[in-house]
Amino acid sequence: MTDTQPSRHTPLPQPARLGVRIAGTGSCLPDGKLTNADLEKMMETTDEWIVQRTGIRERRRLNRDRGETLDDLCVESLRRALAAARMDPSELDLVIVATMTPEMPCPATACTVAHRVGAGTAGGFDLNAACSGFVFGLNTAHELIRGGGYRSIALVGADALSRHMDYSNAGRGTAIIFGDAAAAAILRATDDPSKGILAHAMHSNGAGWKDIYVPQQPFHFPEGIACDPQKYDKVQMNGAAVFKFAVGTFSDLIQQTLDKAGLAASEIDMFVCHQSNSRILTAARDRFGIPEDRLYVNIDRFGNTVGASVPLCLDELVRQGKVREGHRVMFVAFGGGLTWGSSLWQL
Ligand code: UT7
Repeated sequence: MTDTQPSRHTPLPQPARLGVRIAGTGSCLPDGKLTNADLEKMMETTDEWIVQRTGIRERRRLNRDRGETLDDLCVESLRRALAAARMDPSELDLVIVATMTPEMPCPATACTVAHRVGAGTAGGFDLNAACSGFVFGLNTAHELIRGGGYRSIALVGADALSRHMDYSNAGRGTAIIFGDAAAAAILRATDDPSKGILAHAMHSNGAGWKDIYVPQQPFHFPEGIACDPQKYDKVQMNGAAVFKFAVGTFSDLIQQTLDKAGLAASEIDMFVCHQSNSRILTAARDRFGIPEDRLYVNIDRFGNTVGASVPLCLDELVRQGKVREGHRVMFVAFGGGLTWGSSLWQL
């Protein structure tokens, strides 16, 4: 070793700590609306039952007959986010799409989307954590930027569960809930280290897989449930079990994240939560005494849009000026896997 080489004991110079900011958001919904009145004509259900049990009045659905795809929604939402961030797509280093319903197993949605928006050879990959996907993506992208290797990352949350719905009586437990959408956020490095994630969490419990799954083979059915080829490719959900899991997990996750950051619920400007059921959101609000205007709800208009649910709320809040620079915002989600996660930001 020469004198000029650092010894094992000489600390290497540390790069300046980077901050991460959310530079722009965008969203895109299919034009096609599916109201509760439409569903009443397709299966034995009522507007009253759906509103009372879920808070949902309508949801959007891709029109496959007209060739509409999830990729189209992703591309448009990302274009809108880039415009909001006043960025050229060539500045993106990476595109991540959080989805459980890619058009095809290969290529990854992110590759097609990066190409279509003009992001050159930016990296692209899909991330599947069901309804928690966007929150897991936020944590992943944030750490990649803070690590210094990437400066600009596009994160899209997108799902079209309409492809996996049974719009007959047999599917009424799920068909009333899910809607299609895509929404994006651009994460960028900033020299201000105070901006970015204050605390985050990501969890899973594979033992709960059978509470939400999409079977495609006889051996995909859990023990005690007979194989039924009519159910292939359709979402199977034990609604009551997911509901119970969600109510408890949601509140525990918020508390855990607040504890990690050393903050109280009253110090959070906005809770941006996965929209799965208005009753689950109300339970969390009641437990923490969160005022109505600080826990956003749009499930009445869009239903549960899975990976798009959290960023769709974020985009609406940003556009309404209810989430802006300087705010502390907590993102919370849970879903199939089972998965659950949070991301608490200083914007
Ligand atoms: O993003 C994460 C994924 N999913 C969730 O977060 C979903 C969480 N779960 C839920 O939101 C609720 O469990 C549902 C909204 C799915 C269902 O509400 P529930 O109060 O748990 O109803 P249930 O499944 O226990 O069913 C109660 C009754 C049943 O009839 P019986 O057995 O009591 O005679 C169902 O057959 O309601 C019946 N039912 C319906 N009735 C009218 C189920 N679906 C419908 C329907 N319309 N669409």
